[in-house]
Amino acid sequence: MNDVSPGSPDRVRIGLLGCGHVGAALASLVAERRAEVARRQGLDLEVTRIAVRNTAIDRDVPVDDGAFTTDAASVVADPDVDVVVEVMGGIEPARELVMAALSAGKPVVTANKELLANHGAELYALAADNGVDLLFEAAVAGAIPIMRPLRESLAGEPIERVMGIVNGTTNFILSRMSDDGASYADALSEAQSLGYAERDPTADVEGYDAGAKAAIMATVAFGARVVAGDVYHEGISGISVADIEFAADLKHCIKLLAVAEQTVADDGQSQVGVRVHPTLVPLDHPLASVNGSFNAVFIEGGAAGDLMLYGRGAGGRPTASAVLGDLIDAAANLRRGSAPGIGVLERARIAPIDDVTSAYYLNLEVDDRPGVLAAVATVFGEHGVSIRSMEQEGLGGEARLVFITHGARERDLRATLTDLRSLDAVRAVGSVLRVIGD
Ligand SMILES: NC(=O)c1ccc[n+]([C@@H]2O[C@H](COP(=O)([O-])OP(=O)(O)OC[C@H]3O[C@@H](n4cnc5c(N)ncnc54)[C@H](OP(=O)(O)O)[C@@H]3O)[C@@H](O)[C@H]2O)c1
Repeated sequence: MNDVSPGSPDRVRIGLLGCGHVGAALASLVAERRAEVARRQGLDLEVTRIAVRNTAIDRDVPVDDGAFTTDAASVVADPDVDVVVEVMGGIEPARELVMAALSAGKPVVTANKELLANHGAELYALAADNGVDLLFEAAVAGAIPIMRPLRESLAGEPIERVMGIVNGTTNFILSRMSDDGASYADALSEAQSLGYAERDPTADVEGYDAGAKAAIMATVAFGARVVAGDVYHEGISGISVADIEFAADLKHCIKLLAVAEQTVADDGQSQVGVRVHPTLVPLDHPLASVNGSFNAVFIEGGAAGDLMLYGRGAGGRPTASAVLGDLIDAAANLRRGSAPGIGVLERARIAPIDDVTSAYYLNLEVDDRPGVLAAVATVFGEHGVSIRSMEQEGLGGEARLVFITHGARERDLRATLTDLRSLDAVRAVGSVLRVIGD
């Protein structure tokens, strides 16, 4: 970083890896905010080099054409680049480029959840070894500040649980199904036509995208290494409008939640449960009011009590805003020679899904005859699963029983389901979903 002259802002030259949705928005935002950032932070930000795959594409960004190259490594190595911003996505070559930047003592800002959820620990350690920042606010929930609050504002909090609606595509789909009675297929195709969902929506609807974010949130919230492969996944493709209507009758809505929680194992050691699944959320819970493509993260702390952060979880400009905040922080830290990084993390002990305790929603189709309810209730009792509420609906010859249980271990619930399926009077076990609020 060059000090241009006494009293003038410090020049910060940015090497941008990627100029797609986020990178192009960032280049514009840096130009728009340049004078104000110089006035307030004393930093003169300028994008000087940009790596892309195809330099022939005409990009509407306020940066000279000569700044573009397909040689991303040359951007990282350029002595005229002070800070590297990685917004190309994917694991390679992003991982190698980020490592090269950190090894060269250059701070890195990234929005790349896939990279961090799989290789975060080695990168945080490398940043710490080299005394530079690796900041990644934009990697989880786009514009919503969540990483910095977890790392800094809540550093003294014994955080118990972090739950997020961190995938706008699935929240949009579930909101359309709930508000307008749209089928899953219709809501998905609307999300695709509006550009919220990819043509192959698997990463979103099966919970992989939210799972990567859950791993990052768990790592930062609990200070222990959690990777994408540790996350238990269930997606939303099996959710029907009928499930949403039953949930509504029980004063709940259905949301895809990423949950990271710290619990105590049977041997008294702490463990981290991290999972993504559709969840019944009571209508009076703050997460129930997060609709459409919006995101929110709900944090259950100790002294602080409950907190919720809400906003836009994706989109070029909202995401670029989070990157810019990190960029200013990284540049200011570079100037003062500090880098309050995450450092070296121990591997988290991951709670097996069988050990996780949750309340459940179950929907059974049964014969409509005397004694059936008692037989069903006996099966719950035999496995120690206690019933919080039950609704019964006659269907002419058969009946539907909808239960919400109190908190039960996953393994006890699975054993209950096995025995319920073997009862003559049970014709079908429909959806089984977890419920928060117990
Ligand atoms: N979009 C969002 O709303 C959002 C939200 C939060 C986080 N993120 C994260 O931000 C990152 C970027 O997302 P995006 O939506 O901006 O992606 P994108 O629109 O696909 O842009 C990717 C950019 O990287 C360039 N690129 C890819 N591979 C490259 C390589 N090997 N060498 C040089 N350049 C390369 C591409 O070049 P070409 O243009 O020449 O193809 C393109 O400019 C991802 O990690 C994503 O997960 C995105």
